[in-house]
Amino acid sequence: MILPHGGKLTNCVKIGDEKEKLIKKSKHLKKIHLTPREISDLEMIAIGGFSPLDGFMRKKDYHNVIEYNRLVTGLPWTIPITLAVNKEEADTLKEGEDAALVDASGKVLAILHLDEKYEYDKKKEARLVYGTEEAVHPGVKIVYEQGEVLLAGKVSVIECPKHNDFINYRLNPADTRRIFKERGWKRVVGFQTRNPVHRAHEYILKCALEVVDGLLLHPIVGETKSDDIPADTRMKCYEVLLEKYYPKERVLLAVNPAAMRYAGPKEAIFHAIVRKNYGCTHFIVGRDHAGVGNYYSPFAAQDIFDEFSHDEIGIIPLRFGNSFYCKKCEGIVSEKTCPHPKEEHFSLSGTKVRDLLRNGEMPPVEFTRPEIAKILIGWAKNLA
Ligand code: ADX
Repeated sequence: MILPHGGKLTNCVKIGDEKEKLIKKSKHLKKIHLTPREISDLEMIAIGGFSPLDGFMRKKDYHNVIEYNRLVTGLPWTIPITLAVNKEEADTLKEGEDAALVDASGKVLAILHLDEKYEYDKKKEARLVYGTEEAVHPGVKIVYEQGEVLLAGKVSVIECPKHNDFINYRLNPADTRRIFKERGWKRVVGFQTRNPVHRAHEYILKCALEVVDGLLLHPIVGETKSDDIPADTRMKCYEVLLEKYYPKERVLLAVNPAAMRYAGPKEAIFHAIVRKNYGCTHFIVGRDHAGVGNYYSPFAAQDIFDEFSHDEIGIIPLRFGNSFYCKKCEGIVSEKTCPHPKEEHFSLSGTKVRDLLRNGEMPPVEFTRPEIAKILIGWAKNLA
């Protein structure tokens, strides 16, 4: 079994007496309200999805990550995991003290052992992590809207964020690792997605299944941008697709509670590391992975893997070319396998697909399976 990033899975969830003591203690602590993204980051830290992180990043790690794509230990890491508050709130907190991290309802989720509080340059973070300072970029927007001071330190988690959706698909890294072992999967490919599985995705997944023992279909169900298709609709699509078109014993569907950042190449490395923590040995990186608009060149998310040695990253990227239906090939192919000119390729813009769905029209079968199209039409009907 592949080792987690940094060697071992972190587990910050406290149980038994320790938990009871923390609950008592938390009643007297200052409370910090977390945003949805911070809550999903806390959950990922808690369950080991972000191993080796055991809390929110200290200043040195933060700077090393945004400038050099590494933690201070030298371990690759490309996305800052931080907890932001405004100056007034930061002024009420002292380094060395504990604070209670609470959700929107005021429920205490964890205790932060505050090591450091520090100011940071939002534009610099935007530039280095997202490659742009434009506030319309959905990842940059969140950075600009959050507080000016970052709080850092280990967390002791009292209660993992509770969910009442996708219960059967909420598997922690320790769970997926156990399941892979039980199923005898030695080589497991992880697939990140925030979209319904279209024919091009299906092609990529099936190609990958030719060379590994199993597939972890691992859609993001944390915060995504408002015009992305919601997770519950996407989950229905995945279920139908797996039921009808995949060998059940070779695929595991589980949700990833993390939030999307849309950081393109940097997020591709991050996504791969997270899937390594879940036990995957391989990771699919296709066209414009975790991209948005035209911020990243289509294969920047593949090229960035060349900046790290295999020993450092551990998980193997499977690089896929742009995939599409080709009329001459009469099937889904990619630019790596198809010799025909563009005119023979079937392509459909996201906007066109949305228009079709909104009008209750099925997108062509070359693009989406009818079973998936039906679910998407049902969702689109309730829009506008
Ligand atoms: S992402 O933001 O999660 O990357 P999406 O769910 O669309 O978006 O993509 C999931 C994975 O499939 C990514 O690795 C992406 O690069 C790849 N992918 C999506 N569509 C295509 C395509 N037509 N050709 C090649 N790769 C693709």
